[in-house]
Order: sequence, then structure tokens, then C-alpha cells
Amino acid sequence: RMPILEQCYNLMDFEAVARRVMKRTAWAYYSSGADDEITMRENHSAFHKIWFRPRVLVDVEKVDFSTTMLGTKVDIPFYVTATALGKLGNPEGEVILTRGAKKHNVIQMIPTLASCSFDELIDAAEGNQVQWLQLYVNKNRDITKRIVEHAEERGCKGLFITVDAPQLGRREKDMRSKFSDVGSNVQSTGGHDVDRSQGAARAISSFIDPSLSWKDIPWFQSITKMPILLKGIQRVEDVIRAIEAGVQGVVLSNHGGRQLDFARSGIEVLAEVMPVLRERGWEDKIEIYIDGGVRRATDIIKALCLGARGVGIGRPFLYAMSAYGLPGVDRAMHLLKAEMEMNMRLIGAAKIEDLDPSMVDTRGITTH
Ligand code: FNR
Repeated sequence: RMPILEQCYNLMDFEAVARRVMKRTAWAYYSSGADDEITMRENHSAFHKIWFRPRVLVDVEKVDFSTTMLGTKVDIPFYVTATALGKLGNPEGEVILTRGAKKHNVIQMIPTLASCSFDELIDAAEGNQVQWLQLYVNKNRDITKRIVEHAEERGCKGLFITVDAPQLGRREKDMRSKFSDVGSNVQSTGGHDVDRSQGAARAISSFIDPSLSWKDIPWFQSITKMPILLKGIQRVEDVIRAIEAGVQGVVLSNHGGRQLDFARSGIEVLAEVMPVLRERGWEDKIEIYIDGGVRRATDIIKALCLGARGVGIGRPFLYAMSAYGLPGVDRAMHLLKAEMEMNMRLIGAAKIEDLDPSMVDTRGITTH
């Protein structure tokens, strides 16, 4: 029997339900990682190698874990990251995430490859709700320019250029499920030049420009006033390069383990990056985010202790939305807030500024 929503006590519970109720092809697309999925698994196990060094006898009667991201005040330091094809999991698509984000005062990053149209997602936002845009850069720069200008016009507050996907990774689970389904999918292509036999991911991504390089950054800066962030950075040298290029932030990420297998997890890269930036006095020059494998408030707290401004969360909200619609997303966010309050108390931090590197033991992921 299917658990009712109230029986979901953490973000992993939504995944278990989604796995049982989702269409096979949709499950395969959401849940798959690249190649042997070693990186996807590492996204979780990396967090398990970091331990807390809590402070005691701190007054934690009142706990405030609100913060700002790119100048926007948010209730809790996570955002809903960009994940393509929301309608595979729920016929309403990403508007459900928009509404959930509104309810909990967190930011939604709109994917280039959303199932809902961009304007639908902007229109679904209420009041002063803030959204960002994730950008896949088209070989045709006129199209990219139009997308960026339109996003700015419609009030998007951040442009996240995905830099870890010059070619889409091989997600074999996704490819296999499409292969067995090829009959129905060929019908649905309606003559478009997509190759459905390669899985959902490859079918939709052929427009992405693999020649994108550092040389293109000034062009983006010339066409928009939105803050520009690079999503998918994997090494401190590239963080430094990003700072020198004058962007406002980076996301240390491996795309949820869906691109380069054996890319390190965002939290491990963060542990490499921050000491180098601190040495240079550069830790406040840009905002640093991580994503990948964040499932518990303790994961969020670990990232903030190490110097992240916030974290992105992807699959859990897709699963919550697929299994239960908006009430699922609402409950997932509520659970994270409850976990956050408790764990801030238990670690001895009354506010976000209290989280610092001394509160984590990272010997499991660092050698020095
Ligand atoms: C993604 N991700 C992603 N990233 C991006 O820049 N553009 C995109 O279109 C997508 N699409 C996408 C679809 C699905 C189904 C998933 C699971 C992921 C990557 C995403 O933004 C983020 O990096 C990861 O999802 C974070 O890892 P978790 O939270 O899913 O473990």
C-alpha cells in the first residue's frame, strides 16, 4: 500500500514513493546518473564523511536561519535548482515548484528546458517572488540573447549559465527505458529532428553549444545586468578565473552526477576552494553555492559551515511533486525547515553567521 503524505518523514521517503508511482520512463530520466553513477553516489557519501563539532551552552532559544542569496532574503539557505522536463513527473509541471517556492519563501531556478513555458512560470510567481534562470547556451547566439533579455525584462534576478554540459552525459538507465519504449516515442516526435532512441536527455539537448568558452563571458555581461553565475565548476582554479572574469557567483556542482562520472561532489570541491580563497582574502568576492545530494538540513549546515552561501536541491522536489503534487513539495520544504531549526540548535548556532569552519570535522574529505 502507498504511504500517505503524512508518512513521509524526510526527503528520501518521497523518492521511495515516486519510484513506485512514476511512469518508468519518467523515473529513469529523473533518477539516472552518468555511466556507473559513481559520482551520483558520491554526492551522498561525501556528506557522510563530514562530522560536526558542535558548540554547547549557546543560547538557541530563538533560531533564525534566514539569509540572503544575491540580495534576496530567503527563509532557509536552499533554492529549488533547475531540473528539466517537470511534466514527465506531474502533468502540471514546474508551476508546482513555483508555488511551493512561494509558500516557503525560497528561490526557484527556472530551467531552459522546463516543460512549462518560461512565461508560464514567471506568471505563476506571486508578488515579489524571486526566480532565477538556468541557461543552456544555444549555438545560435541570437536565440540565447533573446532568452536572456526576455528573462531580465520579466524580472529574473540571476542568470546561471550551465558550464558542465558541452555534451550531455550518458545516462544509460534513461537510454534503456526509451529504447524499450521506442514505438510510442517515435510517434510523439511529430517529425522533429530529435533522436528519441538515445533517451529523453539526449533528445532535447542537441542545440547546446560545445564551443562555449571563457571568451564568451564578456558577451553575456554586455547583454544583461542580471548577476551572472557559472553552474558546474569543479576546481579552485576555475573559481579564481570566474572571479577574475567578474561574475557574481559559482555553483560547485556535478549536475547531480549526470555529466562527468568521477567528477567530485560539490561539498568536496567547496572544501578545496574556500581555504584558497580565504588565503587571498577573496572569500567575499563572489557567492558560492553547491548542489548535489543535499537531502538533510545537516547537509545544508555542513555546506554553510564550509563557506557556501546556499545550496541547490533538485531531485527531491521532483519526486515530491511526482508523488503528491504541491502538497508533497510543501511538505518536503516544511520538513527541511523543521530539520534546520532542530539541527541549528543542536550544533549551537542561533543564526547563519554563527556557522563557521570550526564547526565541522572535514578530515574525511581533506588530506591537510
Ligand atoms: C538536472 N540538472 C540540470 N541542470 C542544468 O543546469 N540544466 C538542466 O536542464 C538540468 N536538468 C536536470 C534534470 C534532472 C531530472 C535532474 C535530476 C537534474 C542538474 C540540477 O540542476 C542539479 O545540479 C542537480 O539536480 C543537483 O543534484 P540533486 O539535488 O538532484 O542530487
